[in-house]
Amino acid sequence: MSARIIEVEGIGKRYWLHGRTRGYRTLRDTVSDVAGKPAQWARAMFGGAKNPARKEEKAHFWALKDVSFDVGHGEVVGIIGRNGAGKSTLLKVLSRITEPTTGIAKVYGRVGSLLEVGTGFHPELTGRENIFLNGSILGMRKAEIERKFDEIVAFAEIEKFIDEPVKRYSSGMYMRLAFSVAAHLEPEVLFIDEVLAVGDAAFQKKCLGKMGSISRTGRTVLFVSHNMSAVQSLCTRVVWLNRGQVHEFGDTRAVVSRYLQTAARSASEESWPDPENAPGNDKVRLKRVAVLPFDDRPITVETPFRIEIEFWNLLERATLNTAVEIFNHEEICVFSSFSRPQEMTPGSVTAVCHVPGELLNDALYRIKVFLVRDAREQLLIRDSVNFEVHDVEREVAYFGKWTGVVRPALRWTVDAQPDGIESQRQSVTVER
Ligand SMILES: Nc1ncnc2c1ncn2[C@@H]1O[C@H](COP(=O)(O)OP(=O)(O)OP(=O)(O)O)[C@@H](O)[C@H]1O
Ligand SMILES: [Mg+2]
Repeated sequence: MSARIIEVEGIGKRYWLHGRTRGYRTLRDTVSDVAGKPAQWARAMFGGAKNPARKEEKAHFWALKDVSFDVGHGEVVGIIGRNGAGKSTLLKVLSRITEPTTGIAKVYGRVGSLLEVGTGFHPELTGRENIFLNGSILGMRKAEIERKFDEIVAFAEIEKFIDEPVKRYSSGMYMRLAFSVAAHLEPEVLFIDEVLAVGDAAFQKKCLGKMGSISRTGRTVLFVSHNMSAVQSLCTRVVWLNRGQVHEFGDTRAVVSRYLQTAARSASEESWPDPENAPGNDKVRLKRVAVLPFDDRPITVETPFRIEIEFWNLLERATLNTAVEIFNHEEICVFSSFSRPQEMTPGSVTAVCHVPGELLNDALYRIKVFLVRDAREQLLIRDSVNFEVHDVEREVAYFGKWTGVVRPALRWTVDAQPDGIESQRQSVTVER
């Protein structure tokens, strides 16, 4: 086996649930700025925490617990697991953004990392200045960075905005630049968190291509993703995290296949009662995503179901809409749909997408949620719940898997003409 470049030994990360610091104040400030009923709204936001002092109670939980694994030089290792499993925390520990509570993580080599939006770039600096800043953090000389500069800007497709401060970038532009910097500044070890969640399909494809070529130049990559086909095509080994612990570490194909089987059996609902830890930002925060059957029985190819998305709108006055993309287990987007943009004031919003029966084939699906402002700015993108559509007993004598990405019930007419007897023409209409 090749030389170890990452050694993770017994890493644990404990978070205190109360006595919060980062994020809390900003969010509360945003909320109390709201004209109207700030107190009522704040109570709704923070789950009725009327006595802030009680929040100081020493409750904690382990976002990572006893995580150990090694990565060899030039390996591309995927990190998979449900929402909240600890994947981003692990990358933050490895890239020294946060300290582990227990254990030791050793990384040999220059590290480039592409983590959540908000890490890595300085908001007040321009795109150009951030490229140089990142390069020098990686220990590169000015001439080296200059040599790469045009390529970075061209790959990110932000030529026109390169001298604007990055705080004015949309989240897509920000992520494109961040990916391009991380990919081109030649780190020896690259940590990438969910980069493919942002940007359009064409850019995602370009990122995957770039990651493929990076891995072929012998660089080591740790790649967090919910996109199982990307993981399968790029990674040789996979760490499956479950509730902060390594559930499995091994060959990609085997681990991913067991992961998908488990995902199929898991609940089709995620919720964040506490807005501070909810996915989002100072504009919107997700509260709950759920896939609910028409009645209490499992969703089948015949039954309608609904996708419920609840979120907090923190913007004073904004035209927002909700969108979903439904992916199957092969990462094909089966369909997308969006609500009509609507003007909203701060508060809680519930958007429901009604999906008719007799549309989807039996398979495992995943929902990607978007919260959008002015029908173009993606304020939040989130890979969310999985759900399974089950087959039903069939009247026709065919028991194999029904082929096709979708399985619509279509009307058929069959016109059977017995040989030579034109007058006895029969027309039979069969409807399912
Ligand atoms: N700063 C923090 N303070 C308290 N809890 C935190 C903090 N950061 C993360 N957590 C919690 O730690 C757990 C692991 O979070 P993490 O972001 O690592 O999950 P993840 O696997 O990356 O999830 P996702 O797939 O949703 O990105 C979650 O329960 C999260 O709410
Ligand atoms: Mg994450």
